[in-house]
Amino acid sequence: MSQEFSPPTSEWYYPSDAVKKQAIVSDYEALYRKSMADIEAFWDEQAQKLHWFEPWEKVLDTSDAPFYKWFVGGKTNIAYNALDRHVKTWRRNKLAIIWEGEPGDKQTYSYWRLWREVNKCANVLKSLGVKKGDRVTIYMGRIPELVISMLACAKIGAVHSVVYGGFSEHALADRIEDAQSKVLITADGAWLRGNIVKLKDIVDEAVHRSPIVESVLVVKRTGHDVKMQQGRDYWYHDLMGLPIASPQCETTVMDAEDPLFILYTSGTTGKPKGILHTHGGYSVYTSTTLQWVFDVKDDDRYWCAADPGWITGHSYIVYAPLIIGATEIIYEGAPNHPYPDRWWRLVAEYGVTILYTAPTAIRGLMRFGDAWPNRHDLSSIRLLGSVGEPINPEAWRWFHKVIGKEKSPIMDTWWQTETGGFMIAPMPSVPLKPGSGTRPFPGIEADVVDEHGVSCPPGVDGNLVIKGPWPGMLRTIYGDPERFKKQYFSAYEKQGWYLTGDSARKDEDGYFWIIGRNDDVIKVSGYRLGTAEVESGLVSHPAVAEAAAIGVPDDVRGNVIYAYCMLKAGVTGSPELVDALKDHIRHEIGPIAVPTKIEFVTALPKTRSGKIMRRVLKARATGAPEGDLSTLEE
Ligand code: WTA
Repeated sequence: MSQEFSPPTSEWYYPSDAVKKQAIVSDYEALYRKSMADIEAFWDEQAQKLHWFEPWEKVLDTSDAPFYKWFVGGKTNIAYNALDRHVKTWRRNKLAIIWEGEPGDKQTYSYWRLWREVNKCANVLKSLGVKKGDRVTIYMGRIPELVISMLACAKIGAVHSVVYGGFSEHALADRIEDAQSKVLITADGAWLRGNIVKLKDIVDEAVHRSPIVESVLVVKRTGHDVKMQQGRDYWYHDLMGLPIASPQCETTVMDAEDPLFILYTSGTTGKPKGILHTHGGYSVYTSTTLQWVFDVKDDDRYWCAADPGWITGHSYIVYAPLIIGATEIIYEGAPNHPYPDRWWRLVAEYGVTILYTAPTAIRGLMRFGDAWPNRHDLSSIRLLGSVGEPINPEAWRWFHKVIGKEKSPIMDTWWQTETGGFMIAPMPSVPLKPGSGTRPFPGIEADVVDEHGVSCPPGVDGNLVIKGPWPGMLRTIYGDPERFKKQYFSAYEKQGWYLTGDSARKDEDGYFWIIGRNDDVIKVSGYRLGTAEVESGLVSHPAVAEAAAIGVPDDVRGNVIYAYCMLKAGVTGSPELVDALKDHIRHEIGPIAVPTKIEFVTALPKTRSGKIMRRVLKARATGAPEGDLSTLEE
């Protein structure tokens, strides 16, 4: 584990007077103390900033813990807060989204235009029979219609399940099946590095495997020929042009605890978990965290460069920025297409003031050298952000110096799909240490504890836990409440704490340092994958009897996957088989899950009870000491 750990540096970065002066939160310490003195009063105050059709009777209901309920009895709709309320104010004509496609085409959406498109799309979904509570799967690239579809679902009370466009037909089919979606929204294709990713072909395969889908709505993006199945497939632009697609659509009144979306993420088993978030608490949590951590003001140009297919995009592209009425940038393609300065050109052209991205992207762009960013005017930037994995000090310093010109603090935000929003993150007025997410957000009690629940002293590794509920927390694993309880609340059942799955340490100043996952989750380029998923993908190939996958540190991608396969009797390993297995994983899960290295072995290190000892494989792969081998059966 320790090779993933960025050692605490004694380096401090203090915010400049200019940064401090304009920060929305000027005194983190005081705010944190106030929040902890009365957590319910604190969240009550934040929730008042949103629109509620009916107020809540109770801020927090703990009677059925860990199935917490927030803003009990309150009625709202996240789409109302993101759109309807803005079009009634001066923000109606403010830009909500500035979008640029990879080929260079552009679109802008004012709040008014976005509101109308969402209403039209909501009416189209209704005409396809989508009702409150129905699940709709969305599988698209980074185009405005993705945001529009998500908001349209929310508007009519449907539950969206966005599947990242990099997932394969098999992974998509599993997620359609688990959510039981009858309607799927996709595009003909997506642009990536000048090539077309043929999304519609993948959808056809997936729907063939999961025939529960009755209607497929297809956005024309790349314009190449696709097969349209009569009676099932509809062009988005055709339906959006019909009279049924009226730009008026009543927003469905939702209970605070009604589901908003399911987002699948990897855990310790081969089956992805459907993390469920709700309308009320999630709206309050994401909007408060974004406003304070990124200090977003009306004249900002905010750019979160994540993909809406992951939680960062859900919370900090689709929902929070619109709730707080921001203007944001969305870019469709790769950061280095056609040249490694594509992002820097976008920053200069649109006057981006806040840029939020991931360490893997920073390291990737850093490799191309300083000349690419230096060619552009990046002076508009005032704040930077990082998420997804620990940021190593070299990448931090490069980002700070070359991109932020030493005047833009970096908000290193630690959080998870499950947490809905930032949990440990600085605010612009907080002094930084490169590689640390600093301290918990107000209202959040985080700690590092040993297996008995005793707080670890400074500098000692332990489990990162959250000691109380917060509004943005997941409510359950879709269709599997038992797994929810077991996964997150069984390790510290007596105390009722949430187990994050990360190991961390605190330093003398109470700053948190994330070491990495201590379960079988691997972060590859910031994407979350389970070793069990990769392993079950490999053994589904006819040549493989048993497999083990591990994450191995990599300079750019954070981690890469190494896989060890025991072949079935009579099968011999060959370079062709390696290629075939890689191809197999590409189809089973997606390109992000393809192992960098596949090795054929005759045995796997196992405990006497038959569990694969991945730590032994990892030690061998990285040349680290193998540790205690007393349980190894050789
Ligand atoms: C890791 C992404 C260090 C962590 C929002 C966590 C981080 C997992 C950071 C969740 C960070 C996320 N520093 N590690 N700033 N942010 N992580 O669900 O291991 O895709 O548990 O959510 O990413 O990944 P997920």
